Amino acid sequence: MPDETISVIDNRTGRRYEIPIRDGAIGAADLQKITTDGPAAGLMSYDPAFLNTAACRSAITFIDGDKGILRYRGYPIEQLAENATFLEVAWLLRHGELPDQKQYDQFVHDITYHTYVHENFRKFLEGFRYDAHPMAMLNSSIAGLASFYPSARNIFDENERNISIIRLLAKTPTIAAFSYRHVKGLPFVYPDNRLSYVENFLSMIARMSESKYEANPTFARALEILFILHADHEQNASTNAVRSVGSSHVDPFSAVSAGVAALFGPLHGGANEQVLRMITEIGNVKNVPKFIEGVKSGEGGRLMGFGHRVYKSYDPRAKIVKRLADDVFKVVGVDKDLEIALELERIALSDDYFTSRKLYPNVDFYTGLIYRSMAFPTDFFTVLFAIARMAGWLAQWEEMLLDKEQKIARPRQLYIGPAERPYRSKLKNSVS
Ligand code: CMC
Repeated sequence: MPDETISVIDNRTGRRYEIPIRDGAIGAADLQKITTDGPAAGLMSYDPAFLNTAACRSAITFIDGDKGILRYRGYPIEQLAENATFLEVAWLLRHGELPDQKQYDQFVHDITYHTYVHENFRKFLEGFRYDAHPMAMLNSSIAGLASFYPSARNIFDENERNISIIRLLAKTPTIAAFSYRHVKGLPFVYPDNRLSYVENFLSMIARMSESKYEANPTFARALEILFILHADHEQNASTNAVRSVGSSHVDPFSAVSAGVAALFGPLHGGANEQVLRMITEIGNVKNVPKFIEGVKSGEGGRLMGFGHRVYKSYDPRAKIVKRLADDVFKVVGVDKDLEIALELERIALSDDYFTSRKLYPNVDFYTGLIYRSMAFPTDFFTVLFAIARMAGWLAQWEEMLLDKEQKIARPRQLYIGPAERPYRSKLKNSVS
């Protein structure tokens, strides 16, 4: 069939090759058969930062970046955000279908049952400085969990995978909240298993002497929605890190800690923190035009919370977050920085620099304002992202593991260093 192959003529040799097209892609390995008669190996594709390379087949998340569409397992993100719970979504991401009542109840029970962490974790967390960044603490703590569950290394045993996934989903909010309390110098609050996933997290963050914590329902629902919006986003930098590290067949705790590390970066999950810092630095609506000029000239850094590798229109999550911000600000009163954010957005959306590059607000643009209005400290924002993304990392990790086409992720390179040369020491007392 003509539309299932592409014909390539190598102008170096005049040879013609038929390369199969499958699901709209050619296999990079098929290029290897394009060779010259010289010593050079077969043709490679060069794609730093994976601009146009699919690294896997995945049935989990669908994004259409031009149309601004995001679906988990076929369900539109807008419908899930409106109607689902985070744990329902976590189940959906992993299993491909929504849970029925029995499956859901069992799942919620299992997660609730595993929220406690080993007491040694107290000492572990107490070892961090008072001003440690919570993402640094989360990263090393998640990796540290591997030392508590050595049998998790049996990754091809379904029961082991299952319990590791439950443990990670259950314990990440506990570790995150303990890190928060450590920085604040407050006693750790143990999980309250009478509460829902999100309420329990808020309780571990905010509870003081009250016998039972009651979360503000608007905050609890807002956080649940934000967790749903952040739960997965196909092959982003942190998911790619999880898949890549997981492809070595290491245990899942080690694999997802690589995801936490990647998420920490300001170009990825760390952007929500940077948006708030940027807004604070701008300080006043009247300074917005000058700031935008600085971004355009390249002297003022990037407009954080804008732009996306895949979305070339408004990020559908950002639309939902903007509406959510209105709900939260009705409870806490309008945030003066919201005015700056709205002005930044207004100017950027009408400025040729941003429109010609298809730079629109992404999910991180408004989330920071919501988190801050709930009194979360700025450096904790990315931790909230990580709690949610854990669901996606785990679903993607398991999909990678069970995918017969996957092997250890090992990219090729184009070597551009020196050719062979003899060793001549530059040290004073060299023996040569
Ligand atoms: N502000 C100003 N200019 C920008 C921005 C921005 N936020 N983003 C991209 N550009 C410009 C960039 O300078 C380049 O211009 P030119 O063609 O003149 O050199 C052009 O747009 C293309 O940029 P790129 O760096 O090639 O695009 P990318 O796909 O590699 O980067 C991105 C995507 C998200 C890293 C980038 O847009 C960015 O740095 N945004 C700010 C950080 C941010 O908000 N990150 C959160 C992403 S969404 C949530 C998540 O993944 O965690």
